[in-house]
Amino acid sequence: MQDSKRPAAAPSPEGGEAAPKKVFIKAYGCQMNVYDAERMADALAPEGYAETATVEEADLVILNTCHIREKAAEKVYSELGRLAKLKAEKDGMMIAVAGCVAQAEGEEISRRAPVVDIVVGPQAYHRLPQMIAEIHRGAGRALDTEFPVEDKFDALPDENGAEGVARFLTVQEGCDKFCTFCVVPYTRGAEYSRGAASVIAEAKRMVATGAREITLLGQNVNAYKAEGPDGKDWGLARLIRALAEIEGLARIRYTTSHPRDMDDDLIAAHGDVPALMPFLHLPVQSGSDRILAAMNRKHEADDYRRLIERLRAVRPDLALSSDFIVGFPGESDADFEATMRLIREIGFAQAFSFKYSRRPGTPGAAMPKQIAETVKDARLKELQDELVRQQIAFNASLKGRTIPVLFDRPGRHAGQVAGRSPYLQAVHVDGPLSLIGQIAEVEISKSSQNSLSGALKEAVAA
Ligand code: 5AD
Ligand code: SF4
Repeated sequence: MQDSKRPAAAPSPEGGEAAPKKVFIKAYGCQMNVYDAERMADALAPEGYAETATVEEADLVILNTCHIREKAAEKVYSELGRLAKLKAEKDGMMIAVAGCVAQAEGEEISRRAPVVDIVVGPQAYHRLPQMIAEIHRGAGRALDTEFPVEDKFDALPDENGAEGVARFLTVQEGCDKFCTFCVVPYTRGAEYSRGAASVIAEAKRMVATGAREITLLGQNVNAYKAEGPDGKDWGLARLIRALAEIEGLARIRYTTSHPRDMDDDLIAAHGDVPALMPFLHLPVQSGSDRILAAMNRKHEADDYRRLIERLRAVRPDLALSSDFIVGFPGESDADFEATMRLIREIGFAQAFSFKYSRRPGTPGAAMPKQIAETVKDARLKELQDELVRQQIAFNASLKGRTIPVLFDRPGRHAGQVAGRSPYLQAVHVDGPLSLIGQIAEVEISKSSQNSLSGALKEAVAA
């Protein structure tokens, strides 16, 4: 977010001389928060706010927060402590807390951190300009954690053409699944999908401003269901097929998915849409049926195994990623072993794993047999050791192969460019920056846990 370059402040809508105002936005947590942060900047640009990467020069600081685990939420309060000192030194600085902590804690935030002027939930941030105006009129604080009837995406101005070769596009929000550990259904609300025409229009604008890859975002993105331009209901696969027609859009990804929503059409799309990349983040959380039931995941471990088999049947090189939670209430050694077994059987290219974190208001928080922190620590270590081994092995399996890399950024050292493999691995090569935005074949010669490197197959002019 802080890297994104944006045009200077626009003139004030009232026609007067706009004082150049600056907004600093920090996004925590998931990719959707990064996307939302960009859209907040879009909403504020017509008000004369330009983005700054320096918090000290900001007139408005927005923390776009995450509530998924306790640690994520606590980070916000430590940041607010630091900001309080800055605000005391700087007249007129405004501080806003947006995102899932805002939604979950509402007024409690201003009680704990009186330095906060604005609390705005993830479905109400298109109203930020109004809230700022209210404060300027002397209203004190502003709070909006409603799930408004109007569609935020209709109310927001068009995105401001953030630069970038690989971009994110929110197509779905919210969740109806109510996994017993998770706050998302409470902070993001019910499942909602954006109309396909609006998504396609946004994707076309992204491609027109340099995007070659788009990752479709949603808390439950494969539950996508909305009206298509033909008036019929479209699922995610239909949407992906339509996006794949956009000239210049070379790569499509989507995240995050639920195993229950992998329908036949989406599985088929992995086999017959070349732009859909062979990498899938499909959280399973646990390999124990007892724990999966307690988590209210509504699938068993074997359902997941079968799903992966079907996906690999249509796309044999599909690389997989997942989320795991260790130490869910009641998890025995045998339950944990079942998770380890599933990991060894399936084989993951990468994965995220967490210790269960007790979230107030979720059913899991009230369950008996909470697991001791020391047990969680030991299980997490064992699980991560195995996942790291798999990640290293997966990356090493690319050595000697030639793969198409989409270059999207300068490399770490002068004379290097970096990009992504189809399997989402970072790839570094010696080559000119003119490669950024292009796909070129790279022969992989080296691998590590987190990246690959190799040589361009054909010389590219600088
Ligand atoms: N404790 C630990 N991990 C959690 N996740 C969600 N809620 C919790 C929690 N209470 C993890 C899940 C989810 C990912 C985004 O975060 O694995 O898939
Ligand atoms: Fe949370 Fe489960 Fe919904 Fe994912 S599917 S957002 S883990 S409740």
